[in-house]
Amino acid sequence: MAATTPIQPTPPSAARDTDDAHDTHDTHDTHDTAANHADADRYVVIGNPIAHSRSPAIHRHFAALTGQALEYERRLAPLDGFADTLAQLCQSGVRGCNVTVPFKQQAAALASIRSQRVELAGAANTLILHADGRIEAHNTDGIGLVRDITANAGFALAGRHLLLLGAGGAAAGALAPLLQERPASITVANRSAGRAQALVALHQPLAQQLGVALRALALDAVDKSALPRMHALINATASSLQGQALPLQRLDQLLTDDALAYDMMYGPAAQGFLGWVGQHCPEARLRDGLGMLVEQAAESFQLWRGLRPPSQPVLQALRQELDLTP
Ligand SMILES: NC(=O)c1ccc[n+]([C@@H]2O[C@H](COP(=O)([O-])OP(=O)(O)OC[C@H]3O[C@@H](n4cnc5c(N)ncnc54)[C@H](OP(=O)(O)O)[C@@H]3O)[C@@H](O)[C@H]2O)c1
Repeated sequence: MAATTPIQPTPPSAARDTDDAHDTHDTHDTHDTAANHADADRYVVIGNPIAHSRSPAIHRHFAALTGQALEYERRLAPLDGFADTLAQLCQSGVRGCNVTVPFKQQAAALASIRSQRVELAGAANTLILHADGRIEAHNTDGIGLVRDITANAGFALAGRHLLLLGAGGAAAGALAPLLQERPASITVANRSAGRAQALVALHQPLAQQLGVALRALALDAVDKSALPRMHALINATASSLQGQALPLQRLDQLLTDDALAYDMMYGPAAQGFLGWVGQHCPEARLRDGLGMLVEQAAESFQLWRGLRPPSQPVLQALRQELDLTP
């Protein structure tokens, strides 16, 4: 853990009211809380947008399964108001937060204590708000991804060649946990090559320590590069959301026949990427990011509550709720 000066909570009067700036359907979600106990500890997921977040539903399941009394709600922060929103939450006694797009980097920067994963990723998705004002930052995205791939999907990463697409917050959070699985190599390919290079440079000491070959590429250079056949292709870009195809023309030669293709998005948003891989590589195993979402939440829950909730029943229930049963 690295410690810096704690930020002081601003008085409530100085904090911005998120309802002023945005649609009220997308702000405080007092109806979708994990529990409704007067003395329950309170947790919040902050983002912009936030109405789509499944985190309250997931933590409601976890709370019920573990008998924990807690409330969990959504909070929309204005795009220029994350620090104020966080300070307001600290002031009001909230015990912890999940942080989502686009505030993960700010969450890491504002924290007074950062885990090693946060230091490497430069991004945090889980905050513990201590009563004395200190903010402790963790990143559980990558460990959630690795658990979903190795434990839920039963796909071993050790000794394999991995291609990670993207170099944003999600890829940054995933890289250290992926390295710790000791694959043979990880190639990070991003639309902006410089961002991939910076991410790889930051992780190179860890990669060397673990004996993993780590390299960066521009996304449009993948086809022209001499790469080993990849056992896993992990999409951490937002391209599916934008409905844009990735500039990879030779997927069948890039991947092994039984490769795993993983999109960190889930449900319909992941289908463009997964369907595209499936067309070119019919034997590939296709997996969306719903399991990652549940596993990163389980890790956050454990950090906050000190016990691990069972993730399998929650993943199954969520797939049914979202009508995503394979
Ligand atoms: N399942 C989960 O639990 C989970 C957790 C975290 C994130 N995610 C998902 O992961 C995705 C990435 O999130 P993030 O936080 O990393 O976002 P981010 O920080 O905004 O990064 C976006 C990434 O996508 C790339 N990109 C955007 N549009 C592209 C396009 N049209 N073609 C190619 N690359 C494109 C960006 O490349 P440039 O650098 O060149 O702009 C960057 O690498 C999101 O869709 C998010 O929903 C899922």
